[in-house]
Amino acid sequence: MKILSQSFFIKIVAILLFILLLLAGTNMFQTRLVMEKLFTEQQEKRGLSIANMLATQASNLILINNYYDLHELVKNTQQSNDDVRYAFVVGVNGELLAHSFQNHFPAELLSANIPEVPSHYQVTELSTEEGVIRDIVVPIFEGRLGTVHIGLSNKSLQAVLNSTTKKMLFYTLAAVLVGIMLTMYLTNRLTKPIRELVRVTSAITAGDFTQRAVVHSGDELGKLGLAFNSMTESLQKLVAELNQKEEAMVHLLQKVIVAQEEERKRIARELHDETGQTLTSLMMGLKCLADNCTGNSSECQIEDMRRVVKDTLGRIHSLAVELRPSILDDMGLIAALEKYIADYRQTHQIDIDFHVVQEISERILREIEIPVYRIVQEALTNIAKYSQAQNVSVIITRKSNVLELIIEDDGIGFEVDVLMNGNASNNKLGLYGMRERAILVGGTFTIESSPGLGTTIYVRIPLVER
Ligand SMILES: Nc1ncnc2c1ncn2[C@@H]1O[C@H](COP(=O)(O)OP(=O)(O)O)[C@@H](O)[C@H]1O
Ligand SMILES: [Mg+2]
Repeated sequence: MKILSQSFFIKIVAILLFILLLLAGTNMFQTRLVMEKLFTEQQEKRGLSIANMLATQASNLILINNYYDLHELVKNTQQSNDDVRYAFVVGVNGELLAHSFQNHFPAELLSANIPEVPSHYQVTELSTEEGVIRDIVVPIFEGRLGTVHIGLSNKSLQAVLNSTTKKMLFYTLAAVLVGIMLTMYLTNRLTKPIRELVRVTSAITAGDFTQRAVVHSGDELGKLGLAFNSMTESLQKLVAELNQKEEAMVHLLQKVIVAQEEERKRIARELHDETGQTLTSLMMGLKCLADNCTGNSSECQIEDMRRVVKDTLGRIHSLAVELRPSILDDMGLIAALEKYIADYRQTHQIDIDFHVVQEISERILREIEIPVYRIVQEALTNIAKYSQAQNVSVIITRKSNVLELIIEDDGIGFEVDVLMNGNASNNKLGLYGMRERAILVGGTFTIESSPGLGTTIYVRIPLVER
């Protein structure tokens, strides 16, 4: 139903208009019916008295056979009454004695209204080309001298009825108009508090908690407005508190991540510079020893020790790279990723494509190189650990001022919803970590995966030129 979706205001006005028109319509119809009945009765009485008078006067003239005066009498009677369209006198044997018609007399009138009881009057409605005519027949001298007929037209009656109806229609319409205006005014006032609430609710939905409903009345709607305002106030306080807490959390997280990076950097440098150097010189020393010794068992032992030290050096090197590749600080993000991916390809025997679709200046990338590097690192580690993928691609593009990173694999996939919405305490920190890192630099992190269909990670980070 269309009216149901209209505003409260329109509904009330529509209902009122409907009721007003219905009332006015039935009222007018009833009044017209009653008026018509009354007028007809009134006219009939008048017609009857005219006919009776004519009958009395005609009886004398018939008795003395004065048909000329009878004719005059009939004519005068017709002319002196507007409603009387015709009059005529019929003799005892049904012969026409006098009539008021100018030209010829319509013969069918003689048989149109013959009284059933000769001494009694009778009314019949005739439909003629002039409209409805009421023919009244009255006996002369109780029917012994004939009858008098009078034809009454209802034209003037209709005219009066029509003009009265028109007047009534005019007043009704005026009343309806005033009624509508009044209704509109009142409805407008009544619905104002509701509109006010709608306004404030929309503001709150849009995140503006400062708006309050203006309350004028003390009725139920006014009370609702006040309650609503105090609810908004509590909500505003709550949101402010939450925002503060979140801000503190974000700040803390940022600090933790920065500290973690610094620590990794320090340990990586230590491993590389101190431990690495020491082990290298140890290796050199062992080489010297081996060179100076002549083929006995201790030489072989020295050779073994040298191999152990070499392995350890290699492991320490990759640990340092894992912790914080110096190439990231020296050559920038893209070079570091290229190096990481090359190593990864070798270690894991996975076919991996790396595309940088549009060259991006390293200066812009500086700000976000650590989060991007760590996200790629974590994603590729997950792929190696869980996905059983054959093909992997890492794509970095720039769309106007947004860096887009896509990491895709064709592995076994997993149920993202179950993992991300599940209990965060079950140590699935890799995915959360990626998301946090993206969010901390104002970006978004989306992961699409379903069992058997591989996994795709989308990261979008706004690029800010500083
Ligand atoms: N590329 C992937 N393919 C298949 N499963 C994955 C992939 N990445 C993550 N997962 C699943 O998501 C889980 C959560 O990953 P993550 O948060 O990094 O935690 P963790 O690596 O510590 O297990 C993993 O245990 C694994 O089941
Ligand atoms: Mg992981």
